[in-house]
Amino acid sequence: MTQQAFGKTADGTPATLYTMTNKNGMQVAITNYGGTVVSIKVPDRKGTIADVTHGYDDAAGYETGKAYFGGTIGRYGNRIAHGTFSIDGVQYALPKNDGENTLHGGLMGFNKVFWTVKDISGNGPVALQLDYVSKDGEEGFPGKLTVRVIFTLTDSDELKINYAATTDKKTVLNLTNHTYFNLGGSGTILEEELMLAADKFTPVDKGLIPTGVLQPVAGTPFDFRKPMVIGSRIGDDEEQLKFGRGYDHNWVLNSKGSAKPSLVATVFDTKSGRKMEVWTTEPGIQFYTGNFLDGTIKGKGGTPYVLRSALCLETQHFPDSPNHPSFPTTELLPGAKFSSETIYKFSTK
Ligand code: GLA
Repeated sequence: MTQQAFGKTADGTPATLYTMTNKNGMQVAITNYGGTVVSIKVPDRKGTIADVTHGYDDAAGYETGKAYFGGTIGRYGNRIAHGTFSIDGVQYALPKNDGENTLHGGLMGFNKVFWTVKDISGNGPVALQLDYVSKDGEEGFPGKLTVRVIFTLTDSDELKINYAATTDKKTVLNLTNHTYFNLGGSGTILEEELMLAADKFTPVDKGLIPTGVLQPVAGTPFDFRKPMVIGSRIGDDEEQLKFGRGYDHNWVLNSKGSAKPSLVATVFDTKSGRKMEVWTTEPGIQFYTGNFLDGTIKGKGGTPYVLRSALCLETQHFPDSPNHPSFPTTELLPGAKFSSETIYKFSTK
């Protein structure tokens, strides 16, 4: 584990970049600003290392950035319709930062705050523990939420993310990580192959809020049960793809939310040979194809991030669950401990 300065936020607070390296030379860098995954460096089938993630060169980039690159997302990942929900008859109002809706925790989500970081590697694999306490009422959410996220880089080339949280009042939460992946290291992700172990997805309205229906993927461009080239159907004349400007939907994982992580997705880049598996205990996954990227964001080393130059696989509970009692619950009660685990495992073939 190495540490280096990672610039400052506007108020002068210095950020730190922590780089974990495993025995194979795979590297994952994380900053305390936003609990953000800044880079993941893995070899291709010839052994050439590339950074397979989008991001910025310093904390200031993340502070002003609006794309959530690599961030730890909370208190509520994805959207809450009209910025409101109720618990036990009490209605809560959240800042609306995505049209009429609240996205990724509001204006100052967990990706925009400093986390307390501790190296907990010991004798095992390299690991970083990140802690944050979200105040009662922060961004409109009830209850003081104590959150711990542990990032572990194993010698099997896995980035393992363990989330834990407790609250002092009944609240809602949906924690995820928003890394943008491009296994080729550059270009677009349209030729990469994706598998999603999901028979259903949650179709949305124009504002990308789930209608509440769990729709079978069979016979639609949302069927990734067998590996499919991402770009093969993305331009189909289909209402859901139009609403999302591409893929920006939640898949209902067949594993349903399992006690142990289940294999829910694979991405394979035929050109470089890089492969990524996603394992999770969560019941859903947001597959997003970088539809809002348009080349105006200049990221690491000044690289313009163009349309569909990366994809996200955000393991999660379903969007807007607090307003959909039929969805798996996102409520957390005092005295209970929330925990979940997601693994991004890299290999080549
Ligand atoms: C999620 C959302 C998208 C978009 C990205 C970040 O994937 O569903 O609509 O907001 O995050 O740009």
